[in-house]
Amino acid sequence: MSIRPILTFPNSILRKRAEPVKKIDDDIMNLIKDMKHTLTEASGVGLAANQVGVLKRVIVISNAPESDIVAYINPEITNRKGKRSVSEGCLSFPGYSGIVTRSISVSARYIDEAGGKIKITASDLLSQALEHEIDHLNGILFLDHLRDHEKLSSVNPEYRPHTHDINVSVKVQDNKNKSEYNKKLYTKVGIDDLKIALERADILKDLEQSND
Ligand code: NI
Repeated sequence: MSIRPILTFPNSILRKRAEPVKKIDDDIMNLIKDMKHTLTEASGVGLAANQVGVLKRVIVISNAPESDIVAYINPEITNRKGKRSVSEGCLSFPGYSGIVTRSISVSARYIDEAGGKIKITASDLLSQALEHEIDHLNGILFLDHLRDHEKLSSVNPEYRPHTHDINVSVKVQDNKNKSEYNKKLYTKVGIDDLKIALERADILKDLEQSND
């Protein structure tokens, strides 16, 4: 087991499409072991084989700090639901993050290390990581999903992409129409989304006052 160097942008391998794994042999098992070790050392959420210079369809994701890192062989997204804006980074862009549009949940199928065919439906960070890592296998990078007016911003090297559990409920009373408008803005958001949510809440508050 060894740590493999992580390729950084603009290395051209990051733009190449990875080939499907035909047989889970010793090479693939060693690749998976090394990728798990490399991800742990880098304190990352996910890693695709392209990022260690291997054009095979293998990704590893650390879904929660205490849980084991899971390897996904030949992963494919079969369904996407909803859209949300999230803050995202990538081990191939150390020190940078940006706000991207991702699905609220995804369904995917993959082969596990034992060769089993698995189907899952994921939300939150796992959904985001599956989209991000499977993109890597197709040569797509998170900056391809940056929202129109967004640019990559440099972040503190200590920064790790993370989310906060919050509920922002906004109630606007429309006195003219005698109706009430309730909107839950976000449930699980990144720090940048939190700022946007708070800005929007302010706009709605102004609207509320103008109705008085
Ligand atoms: Ni990445």
